[in-house]
Amino acid sequence: PTDEAISETIRNVTSLEELNAAITASGPLVPGATRAVLGEGLQGAAIAFVGEPPGDQEDRQGRPFVGPAGQLLDRALNEAGIDRRSSYLTNAVKHFKFEQRGKRRIHQRPTTGEVRHYRWWLERELDFVNPHLVVALGATAVLALAGKALPISRNRGATHFGERLGFITVHPSSLLRLPQEKDRTQAYDAFVADLRQIRKLAS
Ligand code: URA
Repeated sequence: PTDEAISETIRNVTSLEELNAAITASGPLVPGATRAVLGEGLQGAAIAFVGEPPGDQEDRQGRPFVGPAGQLLDRALNEAGIDRRSSYLTNAVKHFKFEQRGKRRIHQRPTTGEVRHYRWWLERELDFVNPHLVVALGATAVLALAGKALPISRNRGATHFGERLGFITVHPSSLLRLPQEKDRTQAYDAFVADLRQIRKLAS
């Protein structure tokens, strides 16, 4: 669908359920994904976490953050005292984008244009959820929420995304990619420290 068609659809939806049905009906922007991976959690949740596109496991199971990055996120949330079930989790891009290598489906980074396409849906979704704090996990989420690319390292911490109270931190998958265990531990501890701050800001 064109941007005009999407904005028309979005104007007409009156609930999160209708929005989700419209996202599912719109299909993937890039062919390949099995399904739209929709947001999960409560409307009115204090914290909404926004990730990138779903990964292989999320595409198979149809739920956000259930693969390796999601498991790491769960561990860090527990450690920081945040209950995943009372938060809202979603992705900036709703479909898995990948390159097939043999049997493996390798995650591909979405282009700026693809992020912009999905941004319509995300903004409306967050209007319905209306969280106290919106957390951008990684660069793709920042691009979607801020509407421009910002380096994580220099912008990490509390911020605003338009009118919304926001927080910028790393994506859990970036921790998994660090080759040295010492660096992974340090990055994980810094991530948990961010989540503790997030819990305080949202309460
Ligand atoms: N990474 C994301 O950003 N979202 C998911 O749902 C899974 C991995």
